[in-house]
Amino acid sequence: MAVLEQLTSQQAIDLENKYGAHNYHPLPVVLNKGEGVFVWDVEGKKYYDFLSAYSAVNQGHCHPKIVNAMVQQAQTLTLTSRAFYNDMLGKYEKFASEIFGFDKLLPMNTGAEAVETALKICRKWAYEVKGIDENEAEIIVCLNNFHGRTTTIISFSNDPVARKNFGPFTNGFIKIEYDNLKALEEVLSKNKNIAGFLVEPIQGEAGVYVPSEGYLAAAKALCEKHNVLFIADEVQTGIARTGKLLAVDHENVTPDILILGKALSGGAYPVSGVLANNDIMNVIKPGNHGSTFGGNPIAAAVAIAALEVVRDEKLADNAERLGKIFRKELNTFAQENDLVTLVRGKGLLNAVLINDTEDSDTAWNTCLKLRDNGLLAKPTHGNIIRFAPPLVMNEEQLMDCISIIKKTILAF
Ligand SMILES: Cc1ncc(COP(=O)(O)O)c(C=O)c1O
Repeated sequence: MAVLEQLTSQQAIDLENKYGAHNYHPLPVVLNKGEGVFVWDVEGKKYYDFLSAYSAVNQGHCHPKIVNAMVQQAQTLTLTSRAFYNDMLGKYEKFASEIFGFDKLLPMNTGAEAVETALKICRKWAYEVKGIDENEAEIIVCLNNFHGRTTTIISFSNDPVARKNFGPFTNGFIKIEYDNLKALEEVLSKNKNIAGFLVEPIQGEAGVYVPSEGYLAAAKALCEKHNVLFIADEVQTGIARTGKLLAVDHENVTPDILILGKALSGGAYPVSGVLANNDIMNVIKPGNHGSTFGGNPIAAAVAIAALEVVRDEKLADNAERLGKIFRKELNTFAQENDLVTLVRGKGLLNAVLINDTEDSDTAWNTCLKLRDNGLLAKPTHGNIIRFAPPLVMNEEQLMDCISIIKKTILAF
């Protein structure tokens, strides 16, 4: 089979099944083109993308400005490593630091790497600035978190599928209930070795759990009181997804450490980063941390373009406005029938709870029917379907999608 030969969907699936590790369970649809809010399968069928590559494609598929920046940079200089300077990284670091309001950026590639970076910065700060005894620092995390797939990160996951037979795990993490200020306060006041509190402003993978209003601001205040770093993992919620540039902006919270990934590149290229002010970031010295590809010129050019698109096309405002319409329409629908129990979310990060047991395959089957009806979405956990279209969607397209979703659910 020639590499460039056009495959049917079934041929492409068979190849992945035979030659690829089975570490995902994709919806059976094979895509080969994307533009804006749409993707096409190899047979030419057109779909609304309602996942956006887990919120990486906020700016829409193949955004011309991002693609142009990538192509131009790819034709000029792709990679220097950090052994030498390149003329793009500093521009990007300045641009991103100013947009997000921090002194410095540490560039990485994937979300999990950025989370690892934040954990390392936090621990080093704890020993060198806060004065915790070496190897005694602990970081508070939340139950049902999702921060990625590395060995350290799964050490503090409570998802048995992500953890089983991957031990031994990394120590130094304390799990508390999400959205529970009392639990946070209790650990903070009893334990003098707490370095940081790592939290998702909305728990995306867990099923789009939005915490109570005021939770993030109160948690930040508690961290300040106890000289503990508030670390916001905005890999999924950041870059306009929830109707503000960052989800913490809804509560006017400035994290001590901000973690970004996914839509930092508009889905064009793996780009992640950690932002902090000098008093924290300056604990990192040459040799402490790095990555061959982190901060490469293509990543820098792509990230600048991706952030400019978010700003120039006012994607946060669009997500806020369309999100309200989405939840209003589907909540009314949920009240009128018992197939959907709840719709929750912020901006264009939303979840619909299908009225069935957690271990049922109703959500999966609903996604198969949505696919047949021209809309791609995926269950998160059990009976929860996440709906997160590109933020460049317009109202007419959204109303079209809402009617597809209603029609599909009613057919069950
Ligand atoms: C909140 C959060 N953090 C970290 C990650 C990991 O990002 P990546 O898959 O790029 O490693 C994800 C991915 O879904 C995420 O949602």
